[in-house]
Amino acid sequence: MIKKCLFPAAGYGTRFLPATKSMPKEMMPIVNKPLIEFGVDEALEAGMTNMCIVTGRGKHSLMDHFDLNYELEHQINGTPKEDKLKDIRLIMDRANFTYIRQREMKGLGHAILVGKELIGDEPFAVVLADDLCINHANGVLKQMVDLYKQFRCSIVAVEEVPEDQIHKYGVIKGEMIKDNIYRVDDMVEKPAPGTAPSNLAIIGRYILTPDIFDIIEETTPGKGGEIQITDALLTQAKRGCVLAYKFKGKRFDCGSVPGYIEATNYVYDNIYEDK
Ligand code: UTP
Repeated sequence: MIKKCLFPAAGYGTRFLPATKSMPKEMMPIVNKPLIEFGVDEALEAGMTNMCIVTGRGKHSLMDHFDLNYELEHQINGTPKEDKLKDIRLIMDRANFTYIRQREMKGLGHAILVGKELIGDEPFAVVLADDLCINHANGVLKQMVDLYKQFRCSIVAVEEVPEDQIHKYGVIKGEMIKDNIYRVDDMVEKPAPGTAPSNLAIIGRYILTPDIFDIIEETTPGKGGEIQITDALLTQAKRGCVLAYKFKGKRFDCGSVPGYIEATNYVYDNIYEDK
């Protein structure tokens, strides 16, 4: 049903400088697998096969990662090390990758709009690969696609966040219509301390209906002069319906150093098999 997944990956990743000076944040490894590959796995599990990546300057390694490396293949073909390429080869067999460049970093809303050329007129998912989501049953995107089949409107994933952290996120206010599902009636991007409308923070997983593109085009730049997806989603919520879904699973903010370390330890202890 939803075949395309958009990965905005053009940001500067300033919180990880100098590592991200020439390496995309999305290529940072959690143990031995880059963040973006975790996101692609999650999208494949949810039934998506078209991975649409919004890149920027200096992001060639993202493209190379999902392409053949003939020299390496030649070197390790027929050796036991070949097994280490098993997962990425499977991804390359199952998914198509397309890329588009965001020339100026004008915010997440703008990055999504740049992706319009690759998405067209159909519902799609958005994954911010620096939010690593892990669930041992259905992944977060799979959970959201199941919900989309029922409601057919845009859905944002939300998580309860402590009060002293909430100012870092887009925050929703809404009425709970079912267990863990809210109908959004307000949304604020990075509220000033003490003004957040709830403790439900939007994290980096979205299902969007394609009318969002026109709405983003109408949206004036908000906080920091950037086009905020939160502002566009609020318009969409007011005109029709946007749902917020409190997902099952763990989320690590790998765009921050503590979240990245926590994710690395978790994956090493619970998922990494080659110890
Ligand atoms: P972030 O604000 O978390 O990423 O954007 P950043 O700007 O790269 O990181 P810091 O804050 O400087 O450390 C959320 C997501 O949106 C993408 C980023 O790549 C990231 O995946 N993004 C953001 C774009 O693709 N383009 C933009 O103009 C802004």
